[in-house]
Amino acid sequence: MKKMNTTLCEQTGIDFPIIMAPMFLVSNEAMIKAAIRNGIMGVFPSLNYRKEGELKTLLSKLNNYKSETNGLGSYGVNLIVQQTNLLYKKHLAICLEEQVPFFITSLGNPKEVIEGAHAYGGKVYCDVTNMEHARKCAALGADGFIAVCSGAGGHAGPHPATVLIPVLRKEFPNIPVVMAGGIADGQGILAALSLGAAGVSIGTHFITCDEATVSDEYKQAIIDAGIDDIVMTERLSGTPCSVINTDYVKRIGLKQNLIERWMNKNPTTKKWFKMITQLRGMKKLEKAIQPGNYNSIWSAGQSSALIDKTASCEEIINELKKETNDAYQKLHTLFG
Ligand SMILES: Cc1cc2nc3c(=O)[nH]c(=O)nc-3n(C[C@H](O)[C@H](O)[C@H](O)COP(=O)(O)O)c2cc1C
Repeated sequence: MKKMNTTLCEQTGIDFPIIMAPMFLVSNEAMIKAAIRNGIMGVFPSLNYRKEGELKTLLSKLNNYKSETNGLGSYGVNLIVQQTNLLYKKHLAICLEEQVPFFITSLGNPKEVIEGAHAYGGKVYCDVTNMEHARKCAALGADGFIAVCSGAGGHAGPHPATVLIPVLRKEFPNIPVVMAGGIADGQGILAALSLGAAGVSIGTHFITCDEATVSDEYKQAIIDAGIDDIVMTERLSGTPCSVINTDYVKRIGLKQNLIERWMNKNPTTKKWFKMITQLRGMKKLEKAIQPGNYNSIWSAGQSSALIDKTASCEEIINELKKETNDAYQKLHTLFG
């Protein structure tokens, strides 16, 4: 299939406008290399590499791999730009040193990432779920937005793609928008492009790839889940996060209790409580992805309902490309 020319492709040099979305504890080196090899953008959260020296080693390997494969695809790093991420400054410095070509920032203020990346021509897209944050990121010089829409895996936004994307495009006609949330097939990709998106960011579908080292139980739960089996819980990080409604999730409930809510809002306890809640949530997730663990709290989006098998990254990417083309041809015939 020939190279597609959306702004995302032009800005990053990738062949096809798919971002393999960053996923805490899921994204890994094999997945990112498969993304590069197959002409898309593979992004991973820096927090998947917390041990001393790990992130730097991986980045230099990926830089070599990207030049060996002649830059069909590319890679990027997701940074949580918030005070609660104690590794943020350190990880940012390593990424800038290695000249990471692409960033996705989540939460907080992306100023330092944007300034640092722009110094060598790196691109920075910011996760946005609302207009207030989008305006801040635009004013700071973001190269693009990741519109995190309702139904997404992880911290889904409140707005549907059919509204958020056109609204962002209207207010910021010169800033490309990538749609995240609810896409697991080519029809979804075509829909995103027709809304004016410059590409899509796909997470949940890639959890079921062969290269992901999460437990088979987690992958199977995604395959089995229907659209009504995904719920939003505050019990992981304090911020609503989409998970599969397993027996364990039903047992622990979806809301924080009254004391937790108070501590989450109180100006003196807020920062520390959020940090502790997030650390506890990370530990819970870390346990849950191991084989044979019964505390099954598994993050996944509503697109789980569209996924019915495991496959290699290459197979998933090729199928998505083919389906997008088929969907386009089919739609074309409707207009005569
Ligand atoms: C298991 C899981 C972990 C995630 N971790 C992160 C993360 O660390 N940083 C981030 O910005 N987004 C994270 N996300 C959100 C994804 O990057 C992406 O926005 C989302 O998966 C897109 O929706 P989809 O799952 O419907 O494809 C995560 C999503 C999932 C499912």
